[in-house]
Amino acid sequence: MSEILEFREGSTLHLQINRPAKKNALTPAMYTVLADSLNQAAGDFSIRCVVISGSPKAFTAGNDIGDFLNTPPSGSDSPVFHFLYAIHNFPKPLIAAVRGNAVGIGTTMLLHCDLVYATSDAELSMPFVTLGLVPEAGSSLLFPRLVGHAIASEIFLTGRTFSGHEAFEMGLVNELSDNPEERALEVATLIGEQPPTAVINTKALLKSGHHQAVSMVMEAEGELFRLALDSDEARNAFMNFLSKRTKGGEA
Ligand code: COA
Repeated sequence: MSEILEFREGSTLHLQINRPAKKNALTPAMYTVLADSLNQAAGDFSIRCVVISGSPKAFTAGNDIGDFLNTPPSGSDSPVFHFLYAIHNFPKPLIAAVRGNAVGIGTTMLLHCDLVYATSDAELSMPFVTLGLVPEAGSSLLFPRLVGHAIASEIFLTGRTFSGHEAFEMGLVNELSDNPEERALEVATLIGEQPPTAVINTKALLKSGHHQAVSMVMEAEGELFRLALDSDEARNAFMNFLSKRTKGGEA
C-alpha cells in the first residue's frame, strides 16, 4: 500500500499520509510524492483545492528520525525542501485535517495551509530545540506573526506539546471538529464552487505581504538546520529516540 494515498473527490484532490505504523513519519520518498502531487495539482485546472490528512492517530510525527541520522537532507535540492517549496508556492487553497500527533513539519506545514480543521485533542508540537535543531518551513517568521513573540518563544524553546483546542485559540486552526477530514472536504467543495481565478488571486494577495520574506527565512533556516543536523546535540537526541524504541521493542 502506498504511503501517500491520493483520492479525487469532485474538484478536490485529497492527499492522505499513510504510514500509520510509524505515526506517519515522513521519508524522502513520501516528500517527493507529496511535492510532485502538489506541483501537478497546481497546473491542473480541474483541481480547485487540495486537502491533506493523516491517519486516525497521527497527522504526521514529522521527519523520520532514522533518516535524519542516516540520510540527512543535504541541500535545497533535497526532497524535504522540494515539499516545503511546493506548499509555500502552491497557488490554490490547501486545507489540512489534523488528528493525533502533528510533530515538527506536521505543525509547521499548517502555517502554509489556508484552512486547518482539527480535533480538539490533536497533539501539536515543534520540538526542534529539544532535538538540537532549529525551526524550519518559515515557522520562525510565520509562527510569531500568528501568535506573538511570547507564545512562539515559549513553544519553540520548551518544545512542549499543545492541543488542537489551544491551536484553535491561537488562530492556527479554523475550527475544531470530531471529523476534520469530512469538514475539510465539505469546505473544499464550497470553495471549489467559487470562481477559480478569483480564488487563486485572492490567495496570492493574502500571501503577498510576506511571501518573499518567508522564502528568505526558509533559506536561512535551511542553512542552520543542515548544520544542526550534524551536531552532537542533534545526533545524541536522535540516537536517544531510536534507542528508546529498540529497548521498548525488546521489552
Ligand atoms: N521517525 C521515525 N519513527 C517514528 C517517528 C519519527 N519521527 N515517530 C514515531 N516513530 C515510530 C516509533 O519509532 C515507533 O516505531 P516502532 O513501533 O517500530 O518502535 C512507532 O512510530 C510508534 O511510535 P511511538 O513513539 O511508539 O508512539 P507514541 O504514541 O508513544 O508517541 C509520538 C507518538 C509522535 C509522540 C512519538 O512517536 C514521537 O515523539 N516521535 C518523534 C517525533 C519527532 O521528534 N519528530 C521529528 C520532529 S523534527
